[in-house]
Amino acid sequence: TYAAGIIGTGCYLPEKILTNQDLEKMVDTSDAWITERTGIRARHIAAPEQATSDLAYEASLRALADAQTQPEELDLIIVATETPDYKYPSTACLLQARLGAKKAACFDLSAGCSGFVYGLGIGSQSIVTGLYKKILIVGAETLSRITDWTDRNTCVLFGDGAGAAVLGQVEEGYGILSLDMGADGTGGRHLIQPGGGSRNPATHATVDAHDHTIHMDGQDVFKFAARKMPAACKKVLEKVGMTIDDIALLVPHQANMRIINNAISRLKIDRDKVWINIDKHGNMSAACIPVCLTEARQAGKLKKGDNVIMVAFGAGLTWAGALVKW
Ligand code: ACO
Repeated sequence: TYAAGIIGTGCYLPEKILTNQDLEKMVDTSDAWITERTGIRARHIAAPEQATSDLAYEASLRALADAQTQPEELDLIIVATETPDYKYPSTACLLQARLGAKKAACFDLSAGCSGFVYGLGIGSQSIVTGLYKKILIVGAETLSRITDWTDRNTCVLFGDGAGAAVLGQVEEGYGILSLDMGADGTGGRHLIQPGGGSRNPATHATVDAHDHTIHMDGQDVFKFAARKMPAACKKVLEKVGMTIDDIALLVPHQANMRIINNAISRLKIDRDKVWINIDKHGNMSAACIPVCLTEARQAGKLKKGDNVIMVAFGAGLTWAGALVKW
């Protein structure tokens, strides 16, 4: 068997920034409410001509350069997204064509905000078995396209962006050390885009009812996240006999600062060891974790041999944790 690890990362954020002050002019909200209740101050919004694959492409170029990998070397491309360019073809196929990654098999992965960590988990296993050598995992979202800009309960939360990682073979003892992926489908209704699928195909009525936007029971998702984020961290540590003190960096999904604070206090981890960018980017769903990883590396927060936990939760409801020795 081979060890599988992340050999390069990259991210891309669209230029336009939407601040809480901008939102005050759009819905009945305030900078004070958004900052206190969520920790978010600003988020990036894709330009009208940019779709998810465009953001994914920019992030992928940067990750490939960082990994000194040519697109032709890729065996597999997984794009984790809830906002694909189209229902089909997959965004991964669009990205493959754009990159010229002719050899790569391609698919999209739907696990909400946990999608990138799910992709890391599944992708790493095909390296461990020797099936594949180089894999591109992307988390990319244009949530602004499925946001109800008249609903103050949700429109303040989300942003657009993309992050990517190249997986490859690494030295024994390094790379992905343990994983914990799971789902509780009984909570699916708490976070749903109800229109446009086979249950409620698009009609004038579904458009009028705002069924093509994000519907969320915030408090139910909050409770799930508050339980599952720390639990998944403990699981990945237990599996390899480590404790939280062995961790150099925690990269949590960025949905709400209060959810992150809850995880910090339950895990008893030093706040300096937790990467937080929710103030600048909001919740970018599957893109959060790879954007955080890229920023943390650029800030010199991840050195060879450091143990890092990535942990996320999202639509499904799903959760996923990964423990990686860098
Ligand atoms: N501005 C001002 N007031 C607001 C706003 C706003 N933007 N949004 C809601 N309120 C009001 C509500 O209407 C409510 O008023 P009421 O009491 O008069 O009815 C009041 O504020 C409190 O609302 P709550 O829902 O109780 O607020 P809460 O503290 O639970 O925060 C929030 C809401 C931020 C949504 C929180 O529940 C949360 O973050 N939940 C988790 C969300 C999450 O993680 N989603 C993941 C999405 S992942 C994906 O797959 C895309």
